[in-house]
Amino acid sequence: MLVLGIESSCDETALALVQDGKILEEVLFSQAGLHAIFGGVVPELASRGHIKYIGFLFDKLIDKAKIRLQSIDAIAVTRGPGLLGSLLVGAGFAKALAFALGIRIIGINHLYAHALANGINHKLEFPSLAVVVSGGHTHLYCVEAVNKFIQIGRTLDDAAGEVFDKVGTLIGFEYPAGKHIDICAANGKNTAGLLPKPYLDNDNLDFSFSGLKTAAHAVLNAKGLVHSKDMSNAALADFCATFNETVSDILYEKISRALSMYPKLRQIWLAGGVAANSAVRKKIEELALYKKKTLFYPETRYCTDNASMIAYTGWLLAEKGYYHNLDFEVIPRGKKIPDDMLISCNAPS
Ligand code: KG4
Ligand code: ZN
Repeated sequence: MLVLGIESSCDETALALVQDGKILEEVLFSQAGLHAIFGGVVPELASRGHIKYIGFLFDKLIDKAKIRLQSIDAIAVTRGPGLLGSLLVGAGFAKALAFALGIRIIGINHLYAHALANGINHKLEFPSLAVVVSGGHTHLYCVEAVNKFIQIGRTLDDAAGEVFDKVGTLIGFEYPAGKHIDICAANGKNTAGLLPKPYLDNDNLDFSFSGLKTAAHAVLNAKGLVHSKDMSNAALADFCATFNETVSDILYEKISRALSMYPKLRQIWLAGGVAANSAVRKKIEELALYKKKTLFYPETRYCTDNASMIAYTGWLLAEKGYYHNLDFEVIPRGKKIPDDMLISCNAPS
């Protein structure tokens, strides 16, 4: 089965083709350079960017893959969460194409796709723990099946990636700043006790990162590191190493707790942009070893937003007979995504 995936939830316009679970071809255009000037994504500009590039990228994908349009069996498109205008561009394009080709469409939950991206290179088992740590979300899920995600933890305020971005912007790194903090941290040493680890003194699986952001701001001010941005500055490298380590420790604690509370979970799937972080990977690898669980994280290009994860998730669902009617709605960030997929009567059991 050949599935076209379309991603346009934020500032990446991306399309990919998955054939029988394998990535056939992928194209991506990131508007990050444009939004960097503003220190974050400007929704109006993002929608305009998607409109401008989506048709061109689709032609490029078909050209690179050397396929006929008629060989596409289904279209998977991100339906949310994301920026409303951006989601509408991808969904409008996907619906028109599905209608013209007379093929099925599936609206994909972007967060579930981040988690399932681990299946691109690994054999997923259920139930497992999905840890989605991205620019907009920090969620823990028990994943019981491809279409059965049970949320067991979430951030009460900022997402992990958002804190990386905000602290990195204070340092003067270009948006999205997470990877620059990670690079700078490579030359630094963790200073124990420099930053707090908020919201661990409880018995739940939720996160709160806003206190860490405020504390990081105060430390940067006190050390004269605001807008310092020079990666050869030893004090800055030490700060970045400490920041990396602090976020990793917070994730370690709550993931460890989740595995104790739900001992049947077989694998840990790290996902989302922050899953690309070197300290997070290392720390959670130690935890997985200690807890005797298998840990997966996607290749770096499948941690951040991409269309292969959408096409792959679409393929998993389409194989099971799931689809949407053309009138399904896109859902912006903060609203619940309805469980409204249909299933064909001749679907495999
Ligand atoms: O998953 P993603 O592409 O976007 C959302 O769906 O939100 O994640 C982007 C986030 C940004 O906040 C970015 O700074 C962060 O992932 N990120 C990182 C790293 N690479 C990307 N954060 C920490 N360390 C990294 N190496
Ligand atoms: Zn994402």
